[in-house]
Amino acid sequence: MPLFAEIVPDTGARELRVVDRATERRFHALWLRERAPDPQTLDPRTGQRLIEAAALPLDLAIDSLDYDTTQLHVGFSDGHVTSYPVAELLPAPRETRTRWDATLAEIPETTFDEAVADDAALLAMLEALERFGVVKVRGVPLEDDGMLPLVARLGPLRHTNWGGVADVKSVVDAFDLTMTQRGLEPHTDNPYRDPIPGYIWLHCLSNADSGGDSTLADGFQAAARLHESDPDAFDVLTQTPTRFRYVDDDAHLESEGPLIELDARGDIFRVRFSNRTERIPALEPAVLARYYAARQQFFALITAPEMTLTPKLAPGEMLIMDNYRLLHGRTAFTLSEGVRHLRQGYVDRDTTASRRLTLARQRRQPTFEERAS
Ligand SMILES: [Fe+2]
Repeated sequence: MPLFAEIVPDTGARELRVVDRATERRFHALWLRERAPDPQTLDPRTGQRLIEAAALPLDLAIDSLDYDTTQLHVGFSDGHVTSYPVAELLPAPRETRTRWDATLAEIPETTFDEAVADDAALLAMLEALERFGVVKVRGVPLEDDGMLPLVARLGPLRHTNWGGVADVKSVVDAFDLTMTQRGLEPHTDNPYRDPIPGYIWLHCLSNADSGGDSTLADGFQAAARLHESDPDAFDVLTQTPTRFRYVDDDAHLESEGPLIELDARGDIFRVRFSNRTERIPALEPAVLARYYAARQQFFALITAPEMTLTPKLAPGEMLIMDNYRLLHGRTAFTLSEGVRHLRQGYVDRDTTASRRLTLARQRRQPTFEERAS
């Protein structure tokens, strides 16, 4: 069926109905009016609104409608007339991120020098990061702050109470857990912060002779599997708010949220998992019983070998990981001598996303979401 549009008669002319092939959408007159794509309503450079939307009359109606295959021309009862591209009102379906398990053939890779110097390589890296939640960067300078020239291509490094780029160092004579040679169970970093760090940049300067592999699991895949196998357990983890806390002499950090967080559409938006810092309140025992059973199922999924990649970072390699999605840990290792020395930094989500989207726009290249098949 070709494009069809009408002012819906029984709504007092306050709704527009648009049908294009299998897609049908209804639009409220105020929604259309407040985002009229013209320079009287929206700043052409930034898209910021120039009229006060909350002051528009609630009985605003659609007075006139005319359309062809690409544009809808709409007149409103306040006298404003504007045109909407059909493609913006009825956007094409979008590709979604690729969930993976241990069968993922390889982690997407890029070269440090190329990503620093070349916009196309940087965009390819950011696309892979958004799609898979992880990329490996080779050829990072073997210096303490070697990652910084690439960080600078995206935005600021996040500074925390541990500074900017911080040590993850294991020595033979360890006094702290992260400095020992024991394995670390899968976790997301710092769920006690607000905002939680968006991306973890983990840069290897030296590694152990044996063991010391990174472990990586796709938390979105694990959450989706839980949803399939036990929807009630999935609901418990999305609906039970737990707390996370970190306290030392200089810091007291606390934040709250569920282990599996959904967005307003009901899609998985973020996972949290941090055994060391989780501090759930003393909820009703029956509520806690359901929570603990569901958490154990989720833990079984994120530690299952069939869900886990175990890349070993060599000196000069770096992983960039989506901390809203990936769980990371490490296997136990032995140090006969020297140190296992990694450096870690955090970079925010908004600046990372902004860089990807502006690079795609500047290069007139669709993002992977827009290349829906
Ligand atoms: Fe970590």
